[in-house]
Amino acid sequence: MKHLTSLLAGALLLSSNSLAASDETEPFFSRVSDAEVEAVLDQLTLDEKVSLLHGSGMFYSGGVPRLGISEMAYTDGPIGVREEIERDSWNPAGRDDDYATYFPSGTALAATWDPDLAERYGAAIGAETRARGKDMLLAPSINVIRTPLCGRNYEYFSEEPFLTASLAGPYVKGVQSQDVFACVKHFVANNQETNRGSISVEVDETTFRELYLRPFESIVKTYQPGAVMGAYNRIRGTYACENPYLLDEILKGEWAYPGIVVSDWAATHSTKASIEAGLDVEMGTEADFENYYFAQPLIEGVKSGAVARSEVDEAARRVLRVMLATGKTDPDRAQGAINTKEHSALVREVARNAIVLLKDHAKLLPLDPSKYQRIAVIGDNATRQQAMGGFGASVKARYEVTPLQGLQNAIGDSVELTYARGYRPNYFKTGEGWVPIWEQTIDQALDPALLEEAIETARAADLVIFVAGTNRDVESEAADRKNLTLPFGQDALLTVLKAVNPNILTVVVAGAPVDLNIVDAKSDTLVWAWYNGSETGNALSDVLLGKANPSGKLPFTLPKSLDQIGAHALDAFPGDGETVRYKEGLLVGYRWLDAHQLEPLYPFGHGLSYSQFELGDAHVSDGSIQLEITNSSDLSGAETVQAYIEFPDTLDNRPVRQLAAFRKVDLDAGQSKLVSLDLPESVFQHYDEQQAAFRIESGDYVIRIGSSSRDLPLSVTVRR
Ligand code: BGC
Repeated sequence: MKHLTSLLAGALLLSSNSLAASDETEPFFSRVSDAEVEAVLDQLTLDEKVSLLHGSGMFYSGGVPRLGISEMAYTDGPIGVREEIERDSWNPAGRDDDYATYFPSGTALAATWDPDLAERYGAAIGAETRARGKDMLLAPSINVIRTPLCGRNYEYFSEEPFLTASLAGPYVKGVQSQDVFACVKHFVANNQETNRGSISVEVDETTFRELYLRPFESIVKTYQPGAVMGAYNRIRGTYACENPYLLDEILKGEWAYPGIVVSDWAATHSTKASIEAGLDVEMGTEADFENYYFAQPLIEGVKSGAVARSEVDEAARRVLRVMLATGKTDPDRAQGAINTKEHSALVREVARNAIVLLKDHAKLLPLDPSKYQRIAVIGDNATRQQAMGGFGASVKARYEVTPLQGLQNAIGDSVELTYARGYRPNYFKTGEGWVPIWEQTIDQALDPALLEEAIETARAADLVIFVAGTNRDVESEAADRKNLTLPFGQDALLTVLKAVNPNILTVVVAGAPVDLNIVDAKSDTLVWAWYNGSETGNALSDVLLGKANPSGKLPFTLPKSLDQIGAHALDAFPGDGETVRYKEGLLVGYRWLDAHQLEPLYPFGHGLSYSQFELGDAHVSDGSIQLEITNSSDLSGAETVQAYIEFPDTLDNRPVRQLAAFRKVDLDAGQSKLVSLDLPESVFQHYDEQQAAFRIESGDYVIRIGSSSRDLPLSVTVRR
């Protein structure tokens, strides 16, 4: 190992990202002065002020035409700019100019562990938002993954709020660099879709502050998103959109948030209680816009004296501040760009960086095409496009390269690629959309003709690439999955394929954990490939063929079974219909497995490379950890160094350890670099309920360092 001082002299010192990267902050609200806002506000009538505070179309809220301020135009988010719908209904508008780039989903972006890439992703999706004439992107979705079954996990980032904040914050910064603004959602504790419109979350204050509020707090304070979206659910009995503790006291009070709170669509339940609690804009799902709580009833409330005029002024002031900060009245406002080559290239880069190599026991990868005459690609997901599907935000993608197309593009000329679908996804319809048929056995579920074709295709090949997983109908807004089972009989199918061809490489296309016990046992090589955007197939073949070296790390635990997850072990999901109690407290995700010494199938933070990396000794200097990392292979690659903090024993009921810093490092073959992992104050803090504040306990903090939450060979101690 090179000596530390020579490294310090010669090598670039790489710093970890931190929650408090305030020096990098884009001061979004400083683009407009209070005086400018007041000057406009002073000119408005009560009716005009109120028109700013509610939907005037499904994705519009009012402007002030008299003063040349157009309506505020919204769009979903988070995986691309949504297709246009009619102004007054949810029907597609039937336009041919609303194609957009389909971006990798939230968990995919989180799997890159690369904040710079997240910022570039944000800037690209922000540019597309602007190019479509919108002001606000309803993204990113940053709720904590509490259960693997939540239907929206693919939109969310991680079970680890620190990782979420570290990626979603730069995403916001990128979006807002394009003269549009981000709306972080869903505030807060919208961690399940089951009964989401009414369920009341009971959570202790420490857990609330440290886990569920944390990514919002960090992003609000550091990156100033223009909007925060109030969630559907209740918290301790009170709806999120009329919750004074949440909106007035914490968000706007303690965190001094100057932006707006927009309700989720039809998440408002009152006029007076909501505006007094701190809701600013009511959006809805029905077209009777003048009857919204924040429309005619609000005007009447002010006129009757039931609602103070100052409440309307304050909400209107905030809306104007955001509108002016996005340059709505600025002739030089950025114009954006959509469906560009640059966005496609970025999407491919993100997608490559997101792919996680879970294992490669047979050393199949990177694939050497000259070794194979015929490769069988099997599975519905090999040919399925995932930009659309399920309930909720979809993207009308200009194009999407499927896994099979990606392989054809890369090796179609040199190797014979055969394809068999293997199974047909079956669904039945419920009130809340399409739900797959879960409990299937090979006899009843697998179509005999498709099965036979798959068996023959596998038998005749040198290698089987099984493209397994869920799809966007299975993982969907408005419904949680019923269990972890890999749907549509895929376990049974793979079992049969393995019997006729032992060489199995499985690629999982999914945005949330699934039960991979059988897949793991039957596959020599296992790759997680996500809902990975327009360039899904090309990015996948880049990685499989070694054009890109895998560097993704799991942003969630892949459990062996649901009872390895706290919420399920304690039967605390999805609640009794009225209430869900977060009984596991802080022990979400890997924290529960650590506390109970459970072995997951694959741990949080895990992901392999074609390279090998060695970590040198770690030292603490000036409040940061420094260590050397060496790529000891002959391939360039990237490793993410992760540091987990253990709190002093004098504190009770702490997780065994939690993520405190990380850094993704690119290393050429044989190269060494010195990595510096910053430890900002916030990572030493815990919430003290007695003092109702975050504080730091005096004592020794052990920091364990390595390449996943279960591979932490190094440690240092920091005294506070
Ligand atoms: C979702 C939001 C989304 C909104 C508008 C709601 O159902 O929860 O995330 O932004 O619809 O489409």
